[in-house]
Amino acid sequence: MSDLITITLAAGKGTRMKSKLPKVLHQVAEKSMIQHVVDTANRLNPKTNIVIVGYKGEEVEAATDGDVKFITQREQLGTGHAVMQASDELADFSGDVLVLYGDTPLLTEDTLRKLVEFHQQKEAAATILTAKVDDPTGYGRIVRDESGNVSKIVEDKDATCEEAEINEINTGICCFDNDFLLNVLDKLNTDNAQGEYYLTDVAGILSKGGEVVSAVVVNNSDETVGVNTRKHLARAEKTLRSRICDKHLEEGVTIIDPDNTYIGSEVEIGQDTIIYPFAFIEGETAIGSEVVIKPKCRIVDSQIEDRVQIDSSTIIESQIGSGAIIGPYAYLRPGSEIGQDVKVGDFVEIKKSKIGKQSKVPHLSYIGDAIIGKNSNIGAGTITANYDGKNKSQTIIGDNAFIGSDSTLVAPVKIGDKAITGAGAVVTKDVKSEDVVVGVPAKSME
Ligand code: UD1
Ligand code: CA
Repeated sequence: MSDLITITLAAGKGTRMKSKLPKVLHQVAEKSMIQHVVDTANRLNPKTNIVIVGYKGEEVEAATDGDVKFITQREQLGTGHAVMQASDELADFSGDVLVLYGDTPLLTEDTLRKLVEFHQQKEAAATILTAKVDDPTGYGRIVRDESGNVSKIVEDKDATCEEAEINEINTGICCFDNDFLLNVLDKLNTDNAQGEYYLTDVAGILSKGGEVVSAVVVNNSDETVGVNTRKHLARAEKTLRSRICDKHLEEGVTIIDPDNTYIGSEVEIGQDTIIYPFAFIEGETAIGSEVVIKPKCRIVDSQIEDRVQIDSSTIIESQIGSGAIIGPYAYLRPGSEIGQDVKVGDFVEIKKSKIGKQSKVPHLSYIGDAIIGKNSNIGAGTITANYDGKNKSQTIIGDNAFIGSDSTLVAPVKIGDKAITGAGAVVTKDVKSEDVVVGVPAKSME
C-alpha cells in the first residue's frame, strides 16, 4: 500500500510494568512488542513505517530491526502530540495514515487490512478500530450518532456517568485521511482531565465539521489488548503462543498438548511431525517432516531434518541429519553437525563437532572440537580431552573406528579408519588406520 504511512506510538515509559526496560521492548513469544507491531506494519508495505520514540528512545531504536523511520518525541504530551512529531513526514503526502500502538503485539495484518479497506470504501475522514468489551474501564468510549457514525471519543477520565456505561471502546488503532488529519492536528488542545493533546479528539472535531468518522469493531478483542502490566504481558504471551500452535496444527503438525508447548514465532515445522509436551522450540529453528519430539526438549536456532527422534534433550545452534536419534538427556552445544542415522544417546555432550553418518555415541561421553567419520562407534564414557588449560585442540576419528569404553582421547590427536582403542585407553599419540592401541598411555598391541 504505497498510499499508506504507518505511525506507531512508542514514546511512553510504561510505568506500570515496573521495569528498567522500556515497555515496548518487553518480549512476547521471543520478540519485542514493538518488533511485532513494526513487522505487522511492514507487511502492509507502507510508504514509510514511522515509530515515535521517547523514553529510552535510543535503546528502542537499537533493538528494533527493519525498514523503520524513528522520530523522537522529547516530551510525552499525549497521543495527539506524538502524531504531531511526524508532521514533516506527512506534509507532502496524499493518502492514508494508520496509527498503531507499540504495546499491542497481537494485532494481525488481516485486521489492519480490513480496517484500511473499510476506511477507503466509506471514503471516511477517519476510521477507528473499536472493540466491545465487558469492562470498558480505563479506555476511551466510542460515542456513535443515529447513523452509526462516530460523533466523538470520550476518555475514561473525562466521561460522564452515562458515557462511562458505553462498552464499545477505542483500541487506539485508527486510520486517517492524511489531509484531514494534518488539518485537525493543529486544532488539538490540552483542555481535558489529563492536560494532554489527545489524538482521540480528532474524531469529535472531524465529526462536528460534518466529516464522516466511521468505526470497525474488531472480531477478536484479544488482538487489540494493550499491554500495560506484567499480568497483561503474561496473557499476551499465552494468546500468541496458542495462535502459533494453531498455525502449526492447521499445517499438519501434531501437538499433543498446545497449552504446554512453546514454539517461537519464526519456527518452521514439517508435516506429520509430533511434538510432545514441554517442548521449547526457539529462534530460527527449522524442523522437518515426521520428526518426533518427545517430552522435555529445548531446541534453539537449529535445523532438524526429517524423521529425527529427540527425547528430553537440549539442542543449541546445531544441525541434525535425517533419521538421527538423540537422547534422552543429550546436550548438543553450538556447532554440532550430526549426520544421517547417527545415534547420540543418554548423557552425551557434543560441542562444535561433526559426526559422520551412522556413527554412534550411545552413552556418557563428551565430544568437543572433534570430527568423527562414518559408522564409527564411540564407547561409553569416551572423552575428548580438548582443553589443556590454554588452548582447545581437535580430535579426528576416521570411518569404522571402534573407540573402547572409557577411552580418553588427548587432543590434538588423530585416529585412523578401522582403528580400535581398548577400554580405558588414554590416547596421547595418533593411531594409524586399522591399528589397535591399549593402556595408559595407549600403545600399539604389535
Ligand atoms: C489511549 C486512548 C484511549 C484508548 C487507549 C487504548 C488517547 C488520548 N487515548 O489511552 O482512547 O482507549 O489508548 O489502549 O489516545 N504515547 C506516546 N506519546 C505520548 C503519549 C502516549 O508515544 O505523549 C504512546 C504510549 O507509549 C502508548 C500509546 O501512545 O504506546 C498510548 O498511550 P497511553 O498513554 O497508554 O494512552 P491510554 O491512556 O491508554
Ligand atoms: Ca495504554
